[in-house]
Amino acid sequence: MTVRTICCIGAGYVGGPTMAVIADRCPQIQVTLVDLNAERIAAWNDADLGRLPVYEPGLADVVARCRGRNLHFTTEVDGAIAAADMVFLSVNTPTKRKGLGAGQASDLRWIEASARQVAAQARGHTIVVEKSTLPVRTAETIQAILSAAQQGTEGDTKSFSVLSNPEFLAEGTAISDLENPDRVLIGGDDPGSIDALAEIYSNWVNPERILRTNLWSSELSKLTANAFLAQRISSINAIGALCEATGADVKEVARAIGSDSRLGSKFLAAGPGFGGSCFRKDILNLVYLCRHYGLEPAAQYWEQVVELNSWQQQRIARLVVSRLFGTVSGKRLAVLGFAFKADTNDTRESPAISICRDLLEEGAHLAIHDPKVGVDQITSDLGQGASASGLGLADEGSWQPAASVLEAVEGADAVIVLTEWGQYAQLDWPAIAARMRRPAWLFDVRAVTDAEAARVAGLRVWLVGEG
Ligand code: UDX
Ligand code: UDX
Repeated sequence: MTVRTICCIGAGYVGGPTMAVIADRCPQIQVTLVDLNAERIAAWNDADLGRLPVYEPGLADVVARCRGRNLHFTTEVDGAIAAADMVFLSVNTPTKRKGLGAGQASDLRWIEASARQVAAQARGHTIVVEKSTLPVRTAETIQAILSAAQQGTEGDTKSFSVLSNPEFLAEGTAISDLENPDRVLIGGDDPGSIDALAEIYSNWVNPERILRTNLWSSELSKLTANAFLAQRISSINAIGALCEATGADVKEVARAIGSDSRLGSKFLAAGPGFGGSCFRKDILNLVYLCRHYGLEPAAQYWEQVVELNSWQQQRIARLVVSRLFGTVSGKRLAVLGFAFKADTNDTRESPAISICRDLLEEGAHLAIHDPKVGVDQITSDLGQGASASGLGLADEGSWQPAASVLEAVEGADAVIVLTEWGQYAQLDWPAIAARMRRPAWLFDVRAVTDAEAARVAGLRVWLVGEG
């Protein structure tokens, strides 16, 4: 079967860029992204490409080339499903907040709702592809829902097959990851459907990089990849704390161990802990699965990766307070960076959220700068609106957005760098120091600034992982 029409349910950080690149590389395929969120769809259709709902370097160019040609964004879900040869499910699967498995298991209600909608609206043979990261054996649920629809409609020739095709893109590099993937993973048990999906990718991906597995291996590989990546970050953050205590430098340690080809040099940057929509959620999922199958030591092993990450975030907030003579109450602190990493406007699970909340709790006045994250997002993440009347002296913590770094540091006691935005490597430290209150501090939690220049300008400097 050759796929001519694709529908993707969920036009988010994963579905949006992924479908845009498929449309770009496969002009012969019509790709329609649908989403329940009408505002999001409107933003994808915005004539001003600077206002797409997802910020990714290179994304606007891809959308500009394909939108209206073979890439469409709509809220008309039913029609798009009916017309599709292949339906991708790319809805969000957050950690359950209540009920069985609360705090660990994934909430699959949107996956289930989407599967039911596909079951009802699809025509002819439809290949259903799991794009969301899901707990192992979710495909079984999707299959059960789809096959019930198959049986229910006699005379109609509706049929389905289910594939797992996890997405490994990282935010901030989504377009280059999609255009040049290390591998594409397709799990399934129907060779014809696997071939159909592989054929799409083979328009731009070397066939040797297209891996085929069974459904469960594919689902589990995604959770495992994220767990291993997150584990590296917790490992380096644990070593970073030890470096700070002993006089070693975590960057030197990372370089030394990273030159071992068995370890590799990537993903060894100490920082405020990992954020993003996937790592925490996927590890908790793995923990839930291990426990479900009675593998308690394995569950505890992975759980510790998340615990270390929370500890790191709390440690940073405590350390800032203690260096500032044990109190930040009424002090102005410039926070540089709110996104969970550079080159994205995404703040899901951003370490900046818990660190800022802890500092607000201590009564600090935060001036927050981020090149891409807007005031509304920060308001909702911090659970508190920006203070209107400037930063007062009241005991209550408050925050304000800052349009520039220089505005943020005006009268501040400390600069705290939480995201590794490229521009923070090139700050004008003499100009910054001149605007701050003495003694002024730099807490560089990403070790990305020119710390030497900051020292020369008269700041006291704390660098993550530097003893
Ligand atoms: C990611 C990945 O898809 C998933 O692998 C990971 O597990 C977590 O989230 P992402 O694209 O980053 O998804 O999520 P998000 O940006 O929230 O996009 C999901 C979209 O699905 C939203 O726009 C939401 O409105 C939409 N949606 C959700 C639907 O259209 N229908 C639904 O029933 C539910
Ligand atoms: C991750 C996976 O990399 C990707 O394959 C998967 O599809 C989704 O989850 P993402 O969360 O977008 O991608 O970003 P990633 O680059 O992995 O960074 C995750 C977090 O780890 C960020 O908060 C980042 O700042 C942090 N990080 C990363 C470090 O603290 N140190 C590092 O060395 C690398």
